[in-house]
Amino acid sequence: MKTRAAVLYSLDNPKPYSHSKPLRIEELELEPPGPGEVLVEVAGAGLCHSDLSVINGTRPWPVPLVLGHEAAGIVRETGPEVTGLQPGDHVVFSFVPVCGTCPQCATGRGSLCEPGVTANRAGTLLRGTTRFRRHAGLEAQPPLKHHLGVSGFSQWTVAAQESLVKIPKDIPLETAVLFGCAVMTGVGAVVNTAKLPPGSSVAVFGMGGVGLSAIMGAKAVGAYPIIAVDLLESKLQLALRCGATHVVNGSTVDAPAAVRDLTSGGVETAIEAAGHELAIAQAYASTRRGGKAVAIGLPHPSKMLSIPAVSLIAEEKTLMGSYMGSCVPSRDIPRFLRMHRAGNLPVELLRSRDITLDQVNEGFDALDRGEVARQVIRFH
Ligand SMILES: NC(=O)c1ccc[n+]([C@@H]2O[C@H](COP(=O)([O-])OP(=O)(O)OC[C@H]3O[C@@H](n4cnc5c(N)ncnc54)[C@H](O)[C@@H]3O)[C@@H](O)[C@H]2O)c1
Ligand SMILES: [Zn+2]
Ligand SMILES: [Zn+2]
Repeated sequence: MKTRAAVLYSLDNPKPYSHSKPLRIEELELEPPGPGEVLVEVAGAGLCHSDLSVINGTRPWPVPLVLGHEAAGIVRETGPEVTGLQPGDHVVFSFVPVCGTCPQCATGRGSLCEPGVTANRAGTLLRGTTRFRRHAGLEAQPPLKHHLGVSGFSQWTVAAQESLVKIPKDIPLETAVLFGCAVMTGVGAVVNTAKLPPGSSVAVFGMGGVGLSAIMGAKAVGAYPIIAVDLLESKLQLALRCGATHVVNGSTVDAPAAVRDLTSGGVETAIEAAGHELAIAQAYASTRRGGKAVAIGLPHPSKMLSIPAVSLIAEEKTLMGSYMGSCVPSRDIPRFLRMHRAGNLPVELLRSRDITLDQVNEGFDALDRGEVARQVIRFH
């Protein structure tokens, strides 16, 4: 069948993207789902900084690829050997396919699924296949890769069943989109990675879709104070609406010092969602003795992190990474949807605006300039 999709051809694209147009909107052929695979009609897909990081070379994935890893849609066809999903089901995509049986999955660490990460690195679906093709006459061009098993910037996509989580049909799909990355990552970092206890103090660095979700998660579990740190005043105002109790503008003050002042010596937990190694070091420096820093942002693989070595030991600090919120998607997406239903995750606040597939390059300019939290591509 045919599908319109956003294809990324190279990793070093000059700004502004509205001019260089790194994402080309093309009509592709989509092969039917193979064994264990599912055809999904995509309802919406969010623009995450990790997509921007592929466009600017910070996340070097194989190209050409059909971009997009935060999406939701409706199952339209199932391949052989698919169990538990049928046409008409509403689904959220997980950006790591979770096999369920590898050593990581067996110990509840689905976000580190070994075959899942191997397939993501290769730009294939979990079973090693690719399903996007060019029209006749263009087959000599390099094969098209999948982005993290999702490729959500396409009207239609094929995904492994292990990349899909079924959700209730009464949740609007354009809201459900955000649970695929921003919410799973930000709330998961709070409840799974940091295991934030009620009443504990927290600072979150970086108020994009991910950091704002962490703020909501911190409020939902009863943390106090909840200190939002960003370089942009507009983001800090949004953070207050999402549940932050205090804000620190890191462009005008020394952010770790300000956080320590607000909490007589530092927060118990600091969460970094800014995507810069210096912000990770700042988050770490904002914690008190015995504190914990959780890093979410994804700097370029060449970047090194520098912290005072002795503080780790003499102050018994902890530094942890959090990928996909340390989530098991089939467990945590339904759980976070229930928190949303209960009124504890007002994720609508993350959705700055909706755009069309044709506006995707302009959308990444807006994300790069920090003008928006999440933008959602709507296909209908
Ligand atoms: N670990 C994971 O599983 C995972 C998942 C999704 C995204 N990410 C990464 O998390 C990061 C955030 O993603 P996003 O989509 O929310 O990004 P975003 O661009 O929407 O937001 C980032 C925010 O950080 C702010 N910022 C930049 N430098 C800062 C600093 N030094 N101090 C404080 N704030 C600063 C920016 O002003 C912006 O508001 C990115 O690096 C992204 O690649 C990781
Ligand atoms: Zn993401
Ligand atoms: Zn696994």
